[in-house]
Amino acid sequence: MRTAFTAAVLLFACSPAAIVGAADFGKAPEPEEFGLMVRAPGASETFYACTPCHSERIVVQQGLTREQWDEALVWMVEEHEMEPIEGDARTVILDYLAAHYGPDRPNFPHR
Ligand code: HEC
Repeated sequence: MRTAFTAAVLLFACSPAAIVGAADFGKAPEPEEFGLMVRAPGASETFYACTPCHSERIVVQQGLTREQWDEALVWMVEEHEMEPIEGDARTVILDYLAAHYGPDRPNFPHR
């Protein structure tokens, strides 16, 4: 009798439902997939290239021209040991940054 009860408790504790329930407990809902970055083509590339070292906030609070973003990427490589981003990935990221984080700061984070 005692053994059967223990087995039932163990079964419940190890069931996927119990594990998922515990992991989700207290977790705030994620409002956006890429943090503060606007959802648009290039967002994921930019997010994953820039957030290993710092928050995306310091990226999205800038208002730079495409040329200045280009210089910012060079600066990241030369001064901050970022791996150079080359080819299509660089174009995608620069297009994204210039389109959404230009000098008029259309997406400045107010939170
Ligand atoms: C290898 C690490 C690394 C990566 C990857 C990286 N950065 Fe940085 N970045 C830094 C460091 C270090 C600083 C300066 C310290 C700080 O402000 O946190 C910085 C600062 C900045 C700033 C701050 C400018 C200011 O005046 O405050 C901008 C803009 C920036 N990075 C843009 C980018 C963008 C865009 C990417 C992705 C394409 C990127 N960074 C990826 C390391 C990195």
